[in-house]
Amino acid sequence: CGIVGILGATPAVPRILESLARLEYRGYDSAGIATVEGGTLDRRRAPGKLSELRAVIDAHPLSGNNGIGHTRWATHGEPTEANAHPHMTGRVAIVHNGIIENFRPLKEELLTKGVTFEGETDTEVVARLLTAYLDEGMPPRAAFQKTLSRLVGAFALCVLIKGEDDLMFGAREGSPLVVGFGDGENYLGSDAMALASLSNKLIYLEEGDWAELTHTSVQVFDADGTPVDRLTTISQVAATMVDKGNHRHFMQKEIFEQPTVVAQALGRYLDPVAGKVRLPEMPFELATVPKVTLVACGTSYYAALVARYWIEKLARVPVEVDIASEFRYREPVYMDGGLAIFISQSGETADTLAALRHAKAAGQRVATIVNVMGSTMAREADVVLPIHAGAEIGVASTKAFTCQLSVLAALAVDLAAAKGQIDAAQEAAFVEELETAPKLMARVLAHDDAIQEIARAIAPARDVLFVGRGIHFPIAMEGALKLKEISYIHAEGYAAGELKHGPIALIDENVPVIGIAPNDELIDKTVSNLQEIMARQGKVILLSDNAESEAEGMFARLEMPSAGELVTPILYAIPVQLLAYYAAVEKGTDVDQPRNLAKSVTVE
Ligand code: G6P
Repeated sequence: CGIVGILGATPAVPRILESLARLEYRGYDSAGIATVEGGTLDRRRAPGKLSELRAVIDAHPLSGNNGIGHTRWATHGEPTEANAHPHMTGRVAIVHNGIIENFRPLKEELLTKGVTFEGETDTEVVARLLTAYLDEGMPPRAAFQKTLSRLVGAFALCVLIKGEDDLMFGAREGSPLVVGFGDGENYLGSDAMALASLSNKLIYLEEGDWAELTHTSVQVFDADGTPVDRLTTISQVAATMVDKGNHRHFMQKEIFEQPTVVAQALGRYLDPVAGKVRLPEMPFELATVPKVTLVACGTSYYAALVARYWIEKLARVPVEVDIASEFRYREPVYMDGGLAIFISQSGETADTLAALRHAKAAGQRVATIVNVMGSTMAREADVVLPIHAGAEIGVASTKAFTCQLSVLAALAVDLAAAKGQIDAAQEAAFVEELETAPKLMARVLAHDDAIQEIARAIAPARDVLFVGRGIHFPIAMEGALKLKEISYIHAEGYAAGELKHGPIALIDENVPVIGIAPNDELIDKTVSNLQEIMARQGKVILLSDNAESEAEGMFARLEMPSAGELVTPILYAIPVQLLAYYAAVEKGTDVDQPRNLAKSVTVE
């Protein structure tokens, strides 16, 4: 969810709407704004996207220079208007990001005191609790502090109080909150992005911190209520909004941008003249790293799975890969001096951030591969490897994935060189190979029409399988994820050799199977597995650069360019993205903002 709060000198609502547009990547299930003006609280809310809220406000304008806004990704309670934030009682308006874990006992306690509730959300419990303390006669600051002391969970809060036009509270516990400074104005936001058009002078609250804002003052307190000084930083987040150009969707634009942004990313990490990889300065020697741990969610996790093959093969360093939400709960065994790398486009995903902190607390060397430089992970890691993909707006990640792969490939080569596993000539050969990626990617994109045609054929399917072996097994999983995310077709990515141990039972003439089979040492085995599928009437669609592999009875075939082992997975990511894209367009879904998803999920 995204939060913004303004104590301003001009009407707050249009400014909050603009900030919420920047925050829609954190969720678009519902949105709302509350203002305080002349001591009176008022609000508008709407289920659905921000455009719905805009329509409500156009029909019923909301005035006031001071307000709070929220865009929601539903956790407790359906995405209805009643469950949309801000939550209001007669005395307070609250927006909240995160989860209040002890909301049930708190609710019961309030119910026994005769407090009534309108909805089901944990946020309403916070609003009612604060109201109860105000009703007991506590002054606002004491009532807010007392409320915070009762809450257990991971949350960020922003609060307005009736009768108080010059007061706003914020609190951070596990979910980020930023204070922004203006001229006779002050702001709160869930990240620097929220405040990009308002202020670049920021304080990132620390865990347990809370803040009391007026138009002209900001006071920050720690969890004990002691006033604290926190560092003021200047944000680099640009206030520009990106547009779709000539493309129908951001996702399409981002898919087609890939040769350019991958070239950009590689340009930052490769020195083609010297034939060397150049990583940012690290506070330790890569050569001393005994083990690499890769942790991420979603598409970023599949980038990690690809990287495992590269790092283990080239650098001979053991790699473990984990889904962030699983990582810290399985009590991972860290090795002294181990390098833990957290991959996240947004740099904000709550599970990945929690995993990063777990590794850091355990004394691991912590690096992050992010797209958003001012993000929480970028600020907390020892080493930041930016992917330079430019803003990615489509919820389904595309160009961030291929840029992540580019950076990970460079890292694998550097680690291999540092470990003495490859010599200077081999390093130069890998650099040269990586340099070919953008040109070859453009060649794959030229098959746009052919892919669109295949996508039309798979759009009516209920289930689709993606299969691959070795380094292309994660690409198969990424292909399945893309298709699920935006076309809502059920899809699975499977290791081709594993198909016969279960999933082959699903195969009949209605199931398209996308075979990812580049001409490497595994191609014959993959093609045999595809034969097994065809023998059971499955519709095989082969992606390959091996003309020989043409097998009778195949439904379709896409000719891919040949490339080396670092570039191949980057190339094969593209047709699976385009298949998902065109299948979704064919089905008429909301490609850039698919149902139930958010670009960055800031709850665990
Ligand atoms: C969300 C998005 C996915 C994304 C994942 C990880 O679930 O819908 O597309 O891959 O988060 O995001 P991150 O920003 O950490 O890479």
